[in-house]
Amino acid sequence: MEGCHVYTSVLAVVGGITLFFLLLDTLWNIILAARALLAPFFLTHEEQNLVKRYGSWALITGCTDGIGKEYAKQLAKKGLNVILVSRSQDKLLKTANEIEQEHPVKTKIIVADFSKGATAIDYIRNEIKNLEIGILVNNVGMQYTYPMFVGEVPEQQLWDIININVGAVTMMSRILVEDMKKRKRGAIVNVSSGSELQPLPLMTVYAASKVYVRNFTRSLRYEYSDCGITIQHLSPMFINTKMNDFSRRLRTTSFFIPDAQTFAKHAVNTLGKLDCTTGYWSHEIQYFFTRLAPEWARIRIGSKLNEALREEYFRTHSKMVKNTYLQ
Ligand SMILES: NC(=O)c1ccc[n+]([C@@H]2O[C@H](COP(=O)([O-])OP(=O)(O)OC[C@H]3O[C@@H](n4cnc5c(N)ncnc54)[C@H](OP(=O)(O)O)[C@@H]3O)[C@@H](O)[C@H]2O)c1
Repeated sequence: MEGCHVYTSVLAVVGGITLFFLLLDTLWNIILAARALLAPFFLTHEEQNLVKRYGSWALITGCTDGIGKEYAKQLAKKGLNVILVSRSQDKLLKTANEIEQEHPVKTKIIVADFSKGATAIDYIRNEIKNLEIGILVNNVGMQYTYPMFVGEVPEQQLWDIININVGAVTMMSRILVEDMKKRKRGAIVNVSSGSELQPLPLMTVYAASKVYVRNFTRSLRYEYSDCGITIQHLSPMFINTKMNDFSRRLRTTSFFIPDAQTFAKHAVNTLGKLDCTTGYWSHEIQYFFTRLAPEWARIRIGSKLNEALREEYFRTHSKMVKNTYLQ
């Protein structure tokens, strides 16, 4: 009888401690979500001088389209000279011209393909050696052509995803962070994705690469926390860009799927104010509720969503093939 009493007391204590930590974790998540959700409304009105705080040049990777292009424009609007890094010279020249016409800043273009790994990084290092870069935006990222089983993804595409999503973020941070440390100022923005929240079947490698970005960024911030450098983990949900060309639904701007310009405008305003954010208020709601669900449920929901997107892709694709045949 005595033994049973002790056993019950131990169970009650363990249960109480577990409940306490669960509640604490939930409360902490609510505070973080509320802060990130409300902050953009106030932050947009609170202009800060990024040039003074970080330096006069910003380098943005993957910047001739989508988020990167709009992010570069927003930084130029705030007076930063921009170094644009992407694969296509024509698109880079066009983007640089647009920026110079819209804002009184300098631009520099660097043609580099991050899928080439170390060769691309060495080339960029050489091109920027005389420039003091205050803000690095590791935006470049690659996704599958459409949701696929790992065995269906062309091997070269997997290497490209690893080199671009993992390699570029790591090595670009590596070549700039020590200079920032010496100057005691600078910012690194690493663009992850909401897919970092759980394993994501049919986008397995993409989502896994974003888990790397998340952990790399948070750990890097810890290492350099005393050096006056901002290291931001930016983790958006879906945005209407060409990365989502496989789905008409994702290419339709809505409450939860902003266009790149709207997103970038909000995201840039969080720089130096929020270390971890989705960058956009409606994404913050999605991120918060996604995190609340248990992991098995998130995996299941993500998997179902990707199955639906895959079917949509096949439907549209077969229609396109049929239409071409009929013409
Ligand atoms: N769109 C979304 O729903 C979403 C959601 C969450 C996170 N994200 C993340 O946000 C980032 C930007 O995505 P996005 O949707 O804006 O992409 P996007 O519209 O596909 O644009 C990608 C940009 O990267 C450049 N690029 C592609 N491959 C490259 C390579 N090998 N080397 C150098 N540049 C390359 C492209 O230009 P060129 O083709 O001219 O080189 C383009 O400027 C990515 O990291 C992505 O994972 C996107």
